[in-house]
Amino acid sequence: MPLLPELARLRVCVFREFPYLYEGNPAYEQAYLRTYAEASGAAVIVALDGEHVAGASTCLPLSLETANVQKPFLEAGEDVSKIFYFGESVLEAPYRGQGIGVEFFAAREAQARASLHTITAFCAVQRPATHKLRPAGYVPLDDFWRRRGYAKRPELTCAMSWRDVGEAAESEKTMTFWTRTL
Ligand SMILES: CC(C)(COP(=O)(O)OP(=O)(O)OC[C@H]1O[C@@H](n2cnc3c(N)ncnc32)[C@H](O)[C@@H]1OP(=O)(O)O)[C@@H](O)C(=O)NCCC(=O)NCCS
Repeated sequence: MPLLPELARLRVCVFREFPYLYEGNPAYEQAYLRTYAEASGAAVIVALDGEHVAGASTCLPLSLETANVQKPFLEAGEDVSKIFYFGESVLEAPYRGQGIGVEFFAAREAQARASLHTITAFCAVQRPATHKLRPAGYVPLDDFWRRRGYAKRPELTCAMSWRDVGEAAESEKTMTFWTRTL
């Protein structure tokens, strides 16, 4: 899939910002993105400005995600085969606030419906409000997600590890899920 290097570039660039603070890891990007290239029913929605890739958003059936992402749903007794998972939305800053993020949700929900999934889900990193790298005036995306029909599910969490900007080693983060019934 020719766009995968561009998607990796976007992920590393956008997720370097708070709250992800991800110090890009090329080996991880290769492994992670391979899932989206190979999984049946996965989709990558791309925002193009001419030939420039300004943003992208990924999704796939939860049943094809890694075990740690499926785990909270299995433990809660939910039917994983009905759940469609949203990997990420990343958009370069100059392109924000023009409705592209809303379109990313609409396109991924259409993909979920087309493959007969009835629930959509994504997870977001939890960072303390007092985090030293939280920019002044930072507005969390929670209200944006609520307006898209998503509810925070504090009882559904998973762990992901990456190296934060400015840190020497990887650390584990708690990711909290948000879900919507289509
Ligand atoms: C998440 C992200 C992709 C959102 O993208 P965005 O394009 O700025 O979002 P939108 O412009 O679609 O929506 C923002 C607001 O502008 C509104 N908006 C502005 N112009 C609009 C238009 N022309 N059409 C529709 N909505 C518009 C939206 O309705 C929304 O407001 P609302 O929540 O009150 O409805 C972007 O902020 C981002 O890349 N953030 C960093 C990475 C990240 O944290 N990703 C999420 C976790 S993976």
